[in-house]
Amino acid sequence: MKDIKNICCIGAGYVGGPTMAVIADKNPTIKVTVVDINAERIAAWNDENLDNLPIYEPGLAEVVSRARGRNLFFSTEVDKAIEQSEIIFISVNTPTKTYGKGKGMAADLKYIELCARQIAEVAKTDKIVVEKSTLPVRTAEAIKTILNQTGPDSYRDGVNFQILSNPEFLAEGTAITDLQEADRVLIGGDQTPEGKEAIQALVDIYAAWLPKERILTTNVWSSELSKLTANAFLAQRVSSINAISELCEATGADVNEVAKAIGMDSRIGPKFLQASVGFGGSCFQKDILNLVYIAKSLGLSKVADYWEQVIIMNDHQKIRFASKIVSTLFNTVSGKKIAFLGWAFKKDTNDTRESAAIYVADQLIDEQANVCVFDPKVKIQKMYDDINYLDSRTDQLNKRHLQVVSNPYEACKDAHAIAILTEWDEFKDYDWQRIYDQMKKPAFLFDGRNILDRKKMKGIGFEVYSIGKA
Ligand code: NAD
Ligand code: UGA
Repeated sequence: MKDIKNICCIGAGYVGGPTMAVIADKNPTIKVTVVDINAERIAAWNDENLDNLPIYEPGLAEVVSRARGRNLFFSTEVDKAIEQSEIIFISVNTPTKTYGKGKGMAADLKYIELCARQIAEVAKTDKIVVEKSTLPVRTAEAIKTILNQTGPDSYRDGVNFQILSNPEFLAEGTAITDLQEADRVLIGGDQTPEGKEAIQALVDIYAAWLPKERILTTNVWSSELSKLTANAFLAQRVSSINAISELCEATGADVNEVAKAIGMDSRIGPKFLQASVGFGGSCFQKDILNLVYIAKSLGLSKVADYWEQVIIMNDHQKIRFASKIVSTLFNTVSGKKIAFLGWAFKKDTNDTRESAAIYVADQLIDEQANVCVFDPKVKIQKMYDDINYLDSRTDQLNKRHLQVVSNPYEACKDAHAIAILTEWDEFKDYDWQRIYDQMKKPAFLFDGRNILDRKKMKGIGFEVYSIGKA
């Protein structure tokens, strides 16, 4: 295989940005260009002030500052980057469809198709096209058809495309260490001589920093399906422990103790057993719905029902948490201030996609509560966009019931209750006595992440509800 000198990545989002930054950092002789149609996002990636990068991720600014301008570039010139590169990653969004067949379940592949068509139009030399986005199994087939059958005839004849699947397993908030110390990298490709050559070219890029044993190669379909399966298994663990949390509350067992006890069994393991208000994030729900849709489309209704239950349980957990707040506050929150600490779907990210906070706030606003939010990283407008996106009521009404402040003490002052929605570390270090003193009494604390010391909080005077504790 000829030497790889230029890589292009289409999509400068939560995956494309950090992934390419690390690839560039570890492969200083390869020019890596990340392109996006969103000019504002690209401008933010190019901002001299690293605090203005479009994504907050611990360690990201350091990596970007080392590689940007040396061999890492962010640009809106998509065609040029495609033309110049030997490898093209597609890392665009693949949201759940909101229209037509498969609405609410299937992955919307319109952005992927647009990329494939654009590559076909522009490419004049052989390309390795890498699926980095999470895609339904057998998408590579559609990409291959588009690449080989569209584009100007004059180019098509002489240009060969190899399609690889290289799903990303990073989690937000730990993206940089997940990339730098990946458990594994998965590369699926055709088992033909040309396919194997393409696989090897991508293996070499990751081998710049990862041991060869961690780079796993498979056929394309196994790779595509492994990504959906990994997310389904992870989300299933959260729904499983959350199901047990409700049982704990009804029986006097303590979910943290149960999680510890089962997690010490090396077959189960301790990770991903933290009971919570429900999982959020852009992918768990989307990818499981996609898996369910694929199973249904293949007539595998028992398989579909099995995985759908993970989502049903997660929805139940969010509803249960909001209902608990209402019932504890004497069955009415109308006109009451409820402070939210956290809006992001997990700590150490400014991403709010599918965050449980949005759904809990929506339910409380339905009950006419006044929700006052503090989050260390999420911008005010993002929170209004999130709540408006649900379309439950007018923007004006949302603004009346959802207030956003930049200080946690202000959020909690005169509140009837505090709800912890994100597990930001800094919440543990607050002056909880001061917070308690400034609240309405009785002062209720709903710890949706079980991060606070329950005994200590009770000692201060709070009425405490923690997930999975009686
Ligand atoms: P994102 O929305 O943050 O970024 C996608 C970017 O692609 C956007 O900036 C958008 O403007 C750009 N884009 C869309 N169409 C384009 C086009 N035709 N040309 C140029 N740019 C275009 O999405 P993301 O979170 O980075 O996710 C991307 C993919 O990676 C998804 O399939 C997702 O399931 C998967 N994934 C995400 C994560 C995660 O933690 N967010 C982790 C693993 C996998
Ligand atoms: C998840 C996977 O962990 C990544 O491997 C995958 O690449 C990514 O999805 C993706 O495909 O997008 P992410 O959603 O960024 O990553 O974050 P997670 O750490 O998995 O957390 C997801 C949600 O589950 C969060 O809301 C988190 O608070 C919640 N969670 C997680 C729990 O409630 N309990 C746990 O024990 C773990």
